[in-house]
Amino acid sequence: MSHPFTVSLIGWHDGEPLLKSVREAVFIREQNVPVELEWDGLDENCRHALALSHKGDAIGCGRMLANGHIGRIAVLPQWRKKKVGTAIMEALLDYAHAHRYKQVDVDAQTYAVPFYQGFEFVERGEIFLDAGLPHIKMLLKLQ
Ligand SMILES: CC(C)(COP(=O)(O)OP(=O)(O)OC[C@H]1O[C@@H](n2cnc3c(N)ncnc32)[C@H](O)[C@@H]1OP(=O)(O)O)[C@@H](O)C(=O)NCCC(=O)NCCS
Repeated sequence: MSHPFTVSLIGWHDGEPLLKSVREAVFIREQNVPVELEWDGLDENCRHALALSHKGDAIGCGRMLANGHIGRIAVLPQWRKKKVGTAIMEALLDYAHAHRYKQVDVDAQTYAVPFYQGFEFVERGEIFLDAGLPHIKMLLKLQ
């Protein structure tokens, strides 16, 4: 069966309300990330991935900066473990490959390390706190 969702690569202004709705639900309300840290002013310069249900509801998102830093990967709780996050990562990694990025990286919440290991990211350095949550840097070489 095909997935009951789609993932598109978009600019911030193409999908700002939908991207914000997912990040508000997941990072601000669920994970208590402070509003001023969530909206860091970098979104306009990122490529964004937006996952929509077959009904057109926003269910997941992610972004990549021009320097290959991937972040803000989020899937609404009721949609987790259905490969939505995988499809978001694949869309961003396809973009990175197409634009000949040599390497991409992510600051992974430590619980999510196995998710990124699934794409062959490797951990680098020590665990650190960001927005009060434990993270570790992970790298993926593309060339
Ligand atoms: C992390 C997150 C994006 C994963 O999204 P998802 O759509 O549930 O992930 P997928 O279904 O594509 O999972 C793919 C694989 O990643 C791994 N994985 C996913 N969620 C995991 C978790 N909570 N713990 C450990 N491994 C996990 C599993 O190996 C999984 O494969 P499986 O389902 O066959 O076991 C999602 O849990 C989320 O939005 N979390 C809250 C926001 C967040 O913490 N984002 C990450 C910031 S670094």
